[in-house]
Amino acid sequence: MIMSSLPVIDLDPFGTEVLTDPYPLEHALLDAGPLSYLSAHDIYAVARYDAVYAALRNWQGFQSGAGVGLSNFRTEKPWRQLSIVVEADPPHHDAPRRVLANLLGPRAQRRLRDEWMAKAHKMVGQVLDGTPGGTVEFDAVTAIAEKFPPRAVGDALGLPEEGRENLLPFSDFLLNAFGPRNELVAAGAPHAKFLTTWVMEHCQRDALTEDGLGGQIWAAADRGEITHEQAPGVVRSLFAAGFNTTVHALAAVMHALVTHPEQWARLRAQPSLARIAFDEAVRWASPVQTFFRTAVGDVPVGDHVVPDGAKVLMFLGAANRDPRRWTDPERFDLSRDPSGHVGFGFGLHQCVGQNLARLEAECLITALAERVETLELAAPGERRLNNTLRAWHSIPVRARLA
Ligand code: HEM
Repeated sequence: MIMSSLPVIDLDPFGTEVLTDPYPLEHALLDAGPLSYLSAHDIYAVARYDAVYAALRNWQGFQSGAGVGLSNFRTEKPWRQLSIVVEADPPHHDAPRRVLANLLGPRAQRRLRDEWMAKAHKMVGQVLDGTPGGTVEFDAVTAIAEKFPPRAVGDALGLPEEGRENLLPFSDFLLNAFGPRNELVAAGAPHAKFLTTWVMEHCQRDALTEDGLGGQIWAAADRGEITHEQAPGVVRSLFAAGFNTTVHALAAVMHALVTHPEQWARLRAQPSLARIAFDEAVRWASPVQTFFRTAVGDVPVGDHVVPDGAKVLMFLGAANRDPRRWTDPERFDLSRDPSGHVGFGFGLHQCVGQNLARLEAECLITALAERVETLELAAPGERRLNNTLRAWHSIPVRARLA
């Protein structure tokens, strides 16, 4: 039952218009109040920072176990495989999460740092093949953002070289599948079976090196920290969440720096700002735009109630630009403290790989800052539409070398 004064918005969050330009819907939601109803899909929406933050914290009231996409697996038979990490509630979530948090924590970051710095310098050196003072043109998406995570995280996971071209199409499909079965899902459907089979094969122990993150997940199963039945699902969560997210976050920071030359100059003068630049880009662009929850019991939000079993869409991108929380939210600004943004979520399911993503970005931005005096767009960037991601297809860049 919809309460009479609950704001109703009829824009479709997964329609081409909104995916191309999400800001009119975000503004409408932010203006409307803490809770709105989206008639296009019979779902509720939270977009203001405080409401999104509260929803992310309230895992008892807003469960993930009925799916973090539009489908409600409390009432529908699952048509896709649920994640045993991001789509699990306590107590099922606890053990897989603990294993991942241990594996991806500070020790892994220290171990990977030198290796990823070297990889980033090598990749950037190959892209910026020119003499000091000269200019080089490249595509920040295809030459850098799409290349680095499959190389860095693919090696860390312990994957063979062969088949890594499947990583991005797999998670592109998966993140599209969190939305409705629209034309984006239909376009990926013919390859979905092949990609899923490839990924499931590579979650098995014999496809992974023993000392990589994948092999270590299996070792955690040997120690009884998770069951052997859970191990492939835990490895799979890294395939699902560890590649495309970072690709489009790296594209977002590149786009932000290319289109804000004064911020690039600042970063060049103070390369230790690389991590701030990345987090500010994740706030500013929110590469992961939305995630769903499902209400457990009637959950009050502001003056309204989300009824038991209803789907709630959390607009991370809108929360990250809510003027109630951020000064001049539309400005990409390295003097801001972006911490507290919800681009990595918050609470129980907050991104367990966020520090690896930050490390990838730091390595790449540092390597670029050493070599590039100025950056500019060589042609307008082109978006890639996805039901969950704010993604890029191409960002043509012209760099003057230092
Ligand atoms: C969860 C974003 C990179 C692994 C999440 C969530 C968000 C997110 C928003 C929360 C989902 C929810 O609350 O339902 C991002 C962004 C990234 C990134 C923007 C890049 C900038 C990574 C990387 C890895 C990773 C590099 C692994 C190597 C995961 C996993 C979860 C998760 C396993 C599920 C955690 C749980 O449910 O406890 N991520 N992520 N992510 N992320 Fe990331």
